[in-house]
Amino acid sequence: MNQRNNHRLVLFPLPFQGHMNPMLQLGRILYTRGFSITILHTNFNAPDPSSHPHFAFRSIANGLDRSEASTLDIPRLVSLLNARCASPFEECLREMMPSPGVDAVPVACLISDQLFSFMCGVAERLKVRALVLRTGGAASLYVYTILPVLKEKGYVPTDGSRSEEAVKEFPPLLVRDIPVVDSQKPEMMFRLFDNLVKVVKSSTGVIFNTFEELEHPALTSLREVLSVPVFPIGPFHKCCVTSSSSSLLAEDRSCISWLDEQPLKSVIYVSFGSSAAVSNAEILEIALGLADSQQPFLLVVRPGSVGDPEWPEKSPSHFLKALEGRGKIVKWAPQVEVLAHPAVGAFWTHNGWNSTVESISEGVPMLCMPCFADQGVNARYVSDVWGVGVHLNGGLERENIARAIKRVLVEREGEETRQRALVLKEKASGCLTPGGSSYRGLDGLVNHILRCDSEDRLSALEVSVNLCN
Ligand code: UDX
Repeated sequence: MNQRNNHRLVLFPLPFQGHMNPMLQLGRILYTRGFSITILHTNFNAPDPSSHPHFAFRSIANGLDRSEASTLDIPRLVSLLNARCASPFEECLREMMPSPGVDAVPVACLISDQLFSFMCGVAERLKVRALVLRTGGAASLYVYTILPVLKEKGYVPTDGSRSEEAVKEFPPLLVRDIPVVDSQKPEMMFRLFDNLVKVVKSSTGVIFNTFEELEHPALTSLREVLSVPVFPIGPFHKCCVTSSSSSLLAEDRSCISWLDEQPLKSVIYVSFGSSAAVSNAEILEIALGLADSQQPFLLVVRPGSVGDPEWPEKSPSHFLKALEGRGKIVKWAPQVEVLAHPAVGAFWTHNGWNSTVESISEGVPMLCMPCFADQGVNARYVSDVWGVGVHLNGGLERENIARAIKRVLVEREGEETRQRALVLKEKASGCLTPGGSSYRGLDGLVNHILRCDSEDRLSALEVSVNLCN
C-alpha cells in the first residue's frame, strides 16, 4: 500500500538488537496501514537507513564514550542512555513539531521503547500522544508489576538457595525465573523495572509483539492493572513479509545453503541472542555436547559472546576434528529465515522474547537456557504453560546437552512437545488473518491513533478560536 494517510508516527527504539528489531517491524506494519514513519534513533547502534527506504531517519547524539557504550551492565547502560538522551531527544522532537520542515506530514503520535523513562514527560511538554512498545511478553511485564510484592515476600534478591522454590503468587514460576539482571547495583535494576511499569502506565497505550491466544491470562491481568489500552498485534515479523534486515551485525548467509543440504527437521539451531555471553569452558562443553548428539547443528557465536575472541579459529585441532562435518558455526545468522527452514528441527535458545516468538511462529520446539531479565519467565511459559519446549536442566555438561538435544529433536519422549509446537504455530498464523485477534488488534491500534490525533487537532483548533475571540 503506497497511499499515505497524512499522519506521521515517530518511533524511538532502544539501541539494542532485541529492541531495534520489533520497533522496525512495527514501523513496517504501520507503514502498510498508511502512516508515514520517522525513526528517531541514537547514533550508538544506529539502524541502516538503506535497509528501510520507506522510512525517514533522524539521529540524536547519545553522548556515550567508548567504554560506557561497551559495558555489559545493561541497567547501567540503560540508565546512562536515559540521562544522556533526554535533552537531545526533546530538542529533536520539538524541531519536528511546530515547523515540520523535511517531515512535511504532521506528527500524530510518538511510539517509544518502554525503557526510555523520560519519554512521557517530553510527550506531555510537547503535547504529543505517546504510545509504548513492549518488546518483551505480557507475562513478564505482569511480573514486573508485582516485583514489589515479590521483593516484600523475600523471593528477591536471592542468594540462590531458594531458586527451585515455587512462587505461590504466580504459578508456575519458580524463584529462579524471576527477572534479574547482572548489575553492580541491584537497586538500579529494580528502579529500571519500576520505571518501565510507570512509563507504560502513563502512556496512551501499550503495543505488544504477542497474540491473545498465547498470553490471554497475562493480557487480561495487565488490562486491569495498567488502565491503559493494550494492543497485542504480533507476531510482528509475520505481519509483513520483507527481505529487509535490521541486524546490527552482518548476517552470514552461507548457513542457508548449508541448511539446504541437511535432512528435514534434523538440525538443532543454537543462538543465545544479542547480549548473553558464555565462558570458554562453557562454549567448549556446548560444542562437544552438540557433536555428541550426533545431530547436525548450526551454532551462532557472536563476536564478544565468548571469553576467547579467537574461538573457534584458534582452538586445538583435536577439538575442531570432533566438530568436523557435524555442524556449522557462524558469527550471526539470518535467524528468522533459519527458523523457517525445513531442515531446522529444534532451537536451543536463551529465550529472549523475539527468539521465543520467532520459534513459536515456525512451530520449532525449544531447548531453553534462560540467562537474564525476562528470559526466565519466557522459558517457564515455553516449558510449563505452552509445552513447546524443555529446560536444559542438570548443567552445561556435554552428556547432559547431548541427551537434551536428542530428546527435543528426535526421541519419542519429545513427540508431544513437537506436536504442540505445530498446533501453536497454526494459532500464531491464524491470529493475523482477517478477523483474527491480532488483525483486529491492529485495526484497534490504528483507530486509536487516528482518534487521539483528531481529538488533539480539534482541541488545538478550539484553543486558537478562543484566542481569536
Ligand atoms: C533481550 C531480551 O532478552 C529480550 O527478551 C528482550 O525483550 C529484548 O532484549 P536479545 O538477547 O536481543 O533480547 O534476544 P531476542 O529478544 O531473542 O532478540 C534477538 C534478535 O536477534 C532476534 O530477533 C533474532 O532473530 C535476532 N538474531 C539473533 C539474528 O538475527 N541472528 C542471530 O544470529 C541471532
